[in-house]
Amino acid sequence: MSVTIKTADEIEKMRVAGRLAAEVLEMIEEHVKPGISTGELDRICHDYIVNTQQAIPAPLNYKGFPKSICTSVNHVICHGIPNDKKILKNGDVINIDITVIKDDYHGDTSKMFFVGKPTVQAERLARITQECLYIGIEMVKPGVRLGDIGHAIQKHAESNYYSVVREYCGHGIGKVFHEDPQVMHYGKPGTGMELKEGMTFTIEPMINAGKRFTKLLPDDWTVVTKDHKLSAQWEHTLAVTSDGVEVLTKRNEENF
Ligand code: MF3
Ligand code: CO
Ligand code: CO
Repeated sequence: MSVTIKTADEIEKMRVAGRLAAEVLEMIEEHVKPGISTGELDRICHDYIVNTQQAIPAPLNYKGFPKSICTSVNHVICHGIPNDKKILKNGDVINIDITVIKDDYHGDTSKMFFVGKPTVQAERLARITQECLYIGIEMVKPGVRLGDIGHAIQKHAESNYYSVVREYCGHGIGKVFHEDPQVMHYGKPGTGMELKEGMTFTIEPMINAGKRFTKLLPDDWTVVTKDHKLSAQWEHTLAVTSDGVEVLTKRNEENF
């Protein structure tokens, strides 16, 4: 498989899909409170995507994934499956990952939410992880190489005594949910693919408070930290422009 360069028409469709995905995160915020289940969050997002947005929740049945969103609580790194029995409580932190398909194109984005009052450690991990994403985004322009971006993300995480998950990475995206290139959140400067105008991909660093090692649960989806310490993740879908980057999944609370 190789990297696809999107036309202006395709980028416009991805702008629409990206905006819809961002709007789901904006919509769900007020529901993320102690006492709600991740299954209920899934139902609210599913109904909004299908009925209000008239779009498709990409995770549903993707390689057998059973729900419409991913909900990853505390030491869950990614791909947590929403469940009516998983009730959020004060002090939890949750990543909600939304991918919608509109007019054949995907928008993929996630953010961390605090349930009630976060611990100091959870707040710091979420903040540094968001900074890792933003450091990566600010570097994106034609001529920059993927290893440059991975290195900068890794440096920020590790200089704050955190670790970078290696087994899961960002990805090209368009008509296909996960396409080339793989976007690693670690690496060496001057290595890897060179960015070109019209590429669209995600950056989605998963940063652990403890060691980087992961474990896949028997449900074959849920990825947790081996040491059961906290993990955080933030994700945006990006387009490389002639001289920089466009954040296709920007929320209103963000300024790029
Ligand atoms: N949204 C995830 C990503 O950022 C992928 C989820 S795949 C699923 O790439 F099947 F778990 F939904
Ligand atoms: Co993604
Ligand atoms: Co995602």
